Amino acid sequence: MKHCSHYLLIILILSNLQNTQVNGLIITTINIGLKWLGHLLSPPRIFPQDRDESALPDAIIRHNGYPAEVHQVETPDGHILPIYRIPHGKNRTSTKEPVLLMPGIITSATFYFSLSPEKALPFVLSNAGYDVWIGNYRGCDATGHKYYSKKELKYWHFGVDEIVRYDFPSIVDYILKTTNNSAISYVGHSLGTTMFFMALASQPGYNQKFRKMAGMAPGCYASHGKSMLQYMPLINLRQFVTIMDILFFGETPASRMREPLSTSMAFCRLIGIPKTCFGTLLKGFDISRINMTVIQRVLKHLPAPISARSLAQLGQMIGSDRCQMYDFGREGNMRRYGTTSPRLYYLKNITVPCMGMYGLRDDVIPPVDAKRTIQELGNRKSFTYQVKRKDFTHSDFMVDDEAKILVYDKIVEYFDSV
Ligand SMILES: *[C@@H]1O[C@H](CO)[C@@H](O)[C@H](O)[C@H]1NC(C)=O
Ligand SMILES: *[C@@H]1O[C@H](CO)[C@@H](O)[C@H](O)[C@H]1NC(C)=O
Ligand SMILES: *[C@@H]1O[C@H](CO)[C@@H](O)[C@H](O)[C@H]1NC(C)=O
Ligand SMILES: *[C@@H]1O[C@H](CO)[C@@H](O)[C@H](O)[C@H]1NC(C)=O
Repeated sequence: MKHCSHYLLIILILSNLQNTQVNGLIITTINIGLKWLGHLLSPPRIFPQDRDESALPDAIIRHNGYPAEVHQVETPDGHILPIYRIPHGKNRTSTKEPVLLMPGIITSATFYFSLSPEKALPFVLSNAGYDVWIGNYRGCDATGHKYYSKKELKYWHFGVDEIVRYDFPSIVDYILKTTNNSAISYVGHSLGTTMFFMALASQPGYNQKFRKMAGMAPGCYASHGKSMLQYMPLINLRQFVTIMDILFFGETPASRMREPLSTSMAFCRLIGIPKTCFGTLLKGFDISRINMTVIQRVLKHLPAPISARSLAQLGQMIGSDRCQMYDFGREGNMRRYGTTSPRLYYLKNITVPCMGMYGLRDDVIPPVDAKRTIQELGNRKSFTYQVKRKDFTHSDFMVDDEAKILVYDKIVEYFDSV
């Protein structure tokens, strides 16, 4: 398993390289280095931590002097999803409506706490008077199931469609019931926006349950991107799922890369040019501007687990350039949907006003795809907003030091407006 994750890391890195020959040499050297370094040094000895950086959101919230609540939401099909709440700010200011934050691909609720407290989105919204909820979907860290363990194929047997059909409504209804509100607002990043669009498109009754939506890197389309996700359509995705089912109980080895990534980071620190070295390793993620403290914190949680079927579905959507359900193949689709091709999610059915924020250097969901998604929505008040810095990337929404002034303050302003 460990070996396998090493290879996956190498494949991931290679697929992102531009200057392959030069970098290939570096990678080979680093890979060899990793093997013995992994035995000699463990990351904790290199990065002494003054607090537990791997803590879950409730601990982080409390650590920063805010009130924290953990709620366990159960889905109709038995998944248990911990969601976190900051009911009010430090000064017990009266709250505005609840806001639900949903994370993107290979991340979980914790990713929203990557930046320092005065700059992280949940605290920014809390300071602005909102009742902040940070959600997790199935598979994320700390989630579970009533009957199945994460070592069972039955647990991981889901794609994005199941998250959309079960997790999303369960979480939203739970918040409405608990807070006795009739509508909430919503913030998503990346896949966190995709699931919002899909859920409201397929269950239009949920449009009434939202006041406003702010999407960071929004999209149900991403075919013009240049990240490793866009390589997915090159492989046989249903075969990929079968292999992952056999090897990893339907999970992908994504989360198993945490350790090699941390070790690589340790290695990069050791040779004295951590940023350049790690930036080379993770080409395509554009970490050049990110604060090293933040990278170390993020690596405690990233990559978070993702099911093979979810990843495959995203690959299929990129390949077909359609906002669609899982493609089971002609016969499978016929059985499942009654048509030979997978059913579509019609973005026109979404009537909640949305603000779609995109970065010019986003390689995962590039501007052209983000704009197309927002244009197809059914509310004319929905609009796109280009982040006012030319080099803003996909992950910058969550980890850039300037995210507060460039993005989060804008979200508060949008929610505060009538
Ligand atoms: C990096 O982040 C840490 C912790 O959030 C903060 O104390 C420090 O000032 C940041 N450094 C820079 C250069 O922004
Ligand atoms: C809380 O109150 C203190 C003292 O009145 C004030 O300095 C601080 O800015 C307030 N914080 C927030 C988030 O409103
Ligand atoms: C919820 O709100 C309704 C009307 O807004 C009110 O009648 C009801 O008493 C509230 N219930 C609780 C439990 O607060
Ligand atoms: C969404 O819109 C499509 C096309 O306008 C329509 O056929 C479909 O019935 C709508 N979906 C739902 C679930 O209402």
